[in-house]
Formats: sequence, C-alpha cells, structure tokens
Amino acid sequence: MSAPYIVTISSEKGGVGKTTLATNLAIYLKALHEDLPVTLLSFDNHFSVDQMFRINRRPTKGDVSGLFSGSNPDDLIEIGEYGVQFIPSSSQLNRMRRELDDPTALAKALAKSSLGGIVIIDTRPDLDIFTQSALYAADRVIVPVKDAPSMDNCRHIYDFFDSHGLSRRPLRILPCLVDCRIHYDGPFRDPYQLLKAYAINRGYRCMEGYIAKSPKVESLHTNPEGKIYPVLTHGRHTAVHVQMTHVARQVYLSSIDSEVRRLDEHRINMVHAEEEHQSAFETRCKNLVTGCLVCGTPLVDKGQVSPAGYFAQSSDQKVSGFIEEECFTKLVFRYFYGAKRAIEVHDPIWDLFRESAQRSFFLLRRAPHTKNFYQQKLSFYRFDENGLEVSHKTIELHEFEKRLLSKERSDLFPLLERTLFDEQGRLNDTFLLIRKVSSDLPEEILYDQNFENFATVMTKISTQLP
Ligand SMILES: Nc1ncnc2c1ncn2[C@@H]1O[C@H](COP(=O)(O)OP(=O)(O)OP(=O)(O)O)[C@@H](O)[C@H]1O
Ligand SMILES: [Mg+2]
Repeated sequence: MSAPYIVTISSEKGGVGKTTLATNLAIYLKALHEDLPVTLLSFDNHFSVDQMFRINRRPTKGDVSGLFSGSNPDDLIEIGEYGVQFIPSSSQLNRMRRELDDPTALAKALAKSSLGGIVIIDTRPDLDIFTQSALYAADRVIVPVKDAPSMDNCRHIYDFFDSHGLSRRPLRILPCLVDCRIHYDGPFRDPYQLLKAYAINRGYRCMEGYIAKSPKVESLHTNPEGKIYPVLTHGRHTAVHVQMTHVARQVYLSSIDSEVRRLDEHRINMVHAEEEHQSAFETRCKNLVTGCLVCGTPLVDKGQVSPAGYFAQSSDQKVSGFIEEECFTKLVFRYFYGAKRAIEVHDPIWDLFRESAQRSFFLLRRAPHTKNFYQQKLSFYRFDENGLEVSHKTIELHEFEKRLLSKERSDLFPLLERTLFDEQGRLNDTFLLIRKVSSDLPEEILYDQNFENFATVMTKISTQLP
C-alpha cells in the first residue's frame, strides 16, 4: 500500500493560525474527495483537534505520545466528525520532550502503519523534537506567516532542513491572518503582497493565495457549546471559505503529483537497514569458532548457538566464539582467583560469580613487557560494564619454561591457542574480551545493538590498557 502524503503545519511563531489551518484543511480535503482517508494529529497542547473532532467521550485507546513509545499508529486512530480520522492529543508531551532526541522516530513509526491518503500534523510554536519529527516526515510543510517577524522565524525551519540534509522542496509559506483592510502606497498594495515579496526576497516558495483575517472565523472558537466549528459548516459566506478550498485543492493536487513519498523513502531505508542488520549478523555468525573456545565441544551450528555462558572476541576481531559456562568459571577460579579446591556448579560461590559476571567484562592478554618466549606471562583483568577496571592479576605460563616444555599443559592452553597465539605459538599483541551471555539465547550478543555495545566497551578498554 502506498504511503500517506504527510502535510506538516509549522511555524515557530504562536497564534499564526496553524491549528485553524490544520483542522480546517482536514475537513476541506474530505469535502473535496469523500473517499480520501484524512488523518489529523497535533503536538499542540490546546486539545483543539479533540474538541473539534471527537464524537464520543469514551476513554481513548492511546494518544500521539504513543507514536514515540512503540505503539502502532493504526491502534491510536479514532474516527472523528466530518469523516476525519484523528489521533487524540496528549498531555504527556512536556514530560517526554526531554527524553526524545531522534527526529526520524515519527517517520519510522508512521512508516510501519497502514495509513493511506493524507496525514496532517499540527505542531507547537516551537522547533522542539515533536515539530522536528513532523518536519522530518513531511512531504509538504506549510509555514503560516502573518507578519515580518513570523517570516524571519521561517529561517529556523529552513536551517533544520539544510542541517539534516533534507531537500527544501516540501517547504511552502502561506500568508495567514492577512488583514485585507490595510492598504499601502507603492508597489506592494496590501499585507499579502508585502509578505509574498518578503518571502520571494528570501528565496522561500509560497502556496498560491492566502488566508484572510476574519472576525467570523475567529468567532468559531467562542460559543456557548464550548465547541470549535469548522469554516466549511459555519463560515461558508466568508472569504476564508474560498481561500481554504483553494489551499485544500493545492494540497490534494500536490499529493497526487508526488510519486515517491517521504514514508516510502523511510520504508525503503528500513528494508535496507533490516537487510544490512541481517547480513551483518550472518557474517558475525559465519566467523564464529564452532566449538567451545576452551574444551572444543561443538556449540555453533548454522547461526544457532547451544547454551553457552560466555562470548569472547579477540581485539583484532580475527577470532570470536563462545565458551561454556562451566569451562570459563573453572578457569577463572583455578588460575586467577587461586581457589584451593575445585569449585563445582552447586557451590554458592559459583552462583555469586555467575550473577556478578553479568555486569563484568573479562580480558586476557600477554602481560606487558613479557615478550621472552620462555617466560610468558598472562594478565587477567576484570572490568565493570562501563569498561572501568575492577581488578587484575598476572600469572606465569609454565608451559613455556624451557625445562618444563614436556609438562602437562594447563587448561588455559587450548583457549590461548585458539585465540591469542601467533604462528610461532607465542602470545600475540591482541587481547581477548569475554562477556557473559544469556544462556537461553547466547547469539543475542551478536545482534546489532548488543554487539555495538560490546565493541564500544572493547574500544574503551583498549585505550586504557598499559
Ligand atoms: N482566519 C482567521 N481569522 C481570524 N482569526 C483567526 C483566523 N485563523 C485563526 N484565527 C484565530 O487566531 C487565534 C490563533 O489561531 P490558532 O490557534 O489556529 O493559531 P496557532 O498558530 O495554532 O496558535 P499556537 O501557536 O498557540 O498553537 C485563534 O483565536 C483563532 O481563532
Ligand atoms: Mg495551535
């Protein structure tokens, strides 16, 4: 299904007629084309949309805040008056504003919906994250201006488009609240002509026409019923009725003309991103050592990992794989925590270690300044989740001692052989970072976000190592 055509009404200046335009535009579009789905939503905090379109007083299924917290837009839509669909306004936006910083989130949410037709977004007189999101998703941005200061403010919207690498093509100025009683001497005879000249002078494109200031339209907000009435039903004899019809017709025609919509671009990008994630995941799986890095028991088969306790990767990223929980815990206690006795699975210390390991990164590498083949030392570090060192210990690797070469190898040897040895069988210059994984789903560590976190801590740790 083709993506909806998104029209955002935005201006940093308050009281220029954004909400009046957004709400009436929805109704005029519906009047123009009865079968066209028209959906309205507002990040304004006046609840005008709800006042104008709500049919019943039943509790709502959600509101516009849901668009930023994972709800499917389809589940938030209500059927309103005049055949217009709307998403209820929210009183949560002030609270959420501080927590959000991704202007693409709204477009991504809308791209997942089955919305069609035209979606109109009313915004606050502010370039906050909600307005930015609405600008980012828009096929058409209408910027109402009523005077020179509001025209000056348009610069910030243009700057937003430029700084986000977006084409300025969707942007249109619309003179609003134009007082037709005012006349000037000179080439620009009235405020409309003057505002249009200002816009052209600054390189801004305008919609055709304007919306006049009308006492009748203003009065539609104030009545004993406490309702907001549309121009179409209660202001048919005003010039604004003709002007709104003209604006709606332009929006409708440009929606028909636009072949590729912003949300189509997002959908394509999302599919690409999904494919990239999938292929990055598959590459990570393909490069895994299939057996436990300590005991060699097969753990990895076609992207599926049998229950394992730890994931390990060398800092040059040449080796990565899983380690069984038991193998790693025994190694740690025996060689680095100096346990006098063997620690078994049912031991309380075992549970304690497993629990605290969830918040740790472990690291193995050749101890600094020990390159001599026969005196190799191994350092073991424990870091917290943020990559800050908690402890470290260095041990001798007796296997390398000249006299003892024939001695039985330690349980550490196979792990080092698989991960940190160079061709000559010496510890190389890399380190091995080890992280506890979920035993039910060990491969989760290879998912993009988790893997990125692992890589970030690896980079952080590598810059601190002596
Ligand atoms: N064409 C018009 N003629 C006369 N008054 C109008 C017209 N359009 C809007 N108004 C009045 O101007 C005031 C502001 O309009 P509106 O609420 O639509 O502006 P806004 O830009 O959404 O404001 P805000 O920035 O506070 O959200 C309202 O009282 C409204 O009734
Ligand atoms: Mg408003």
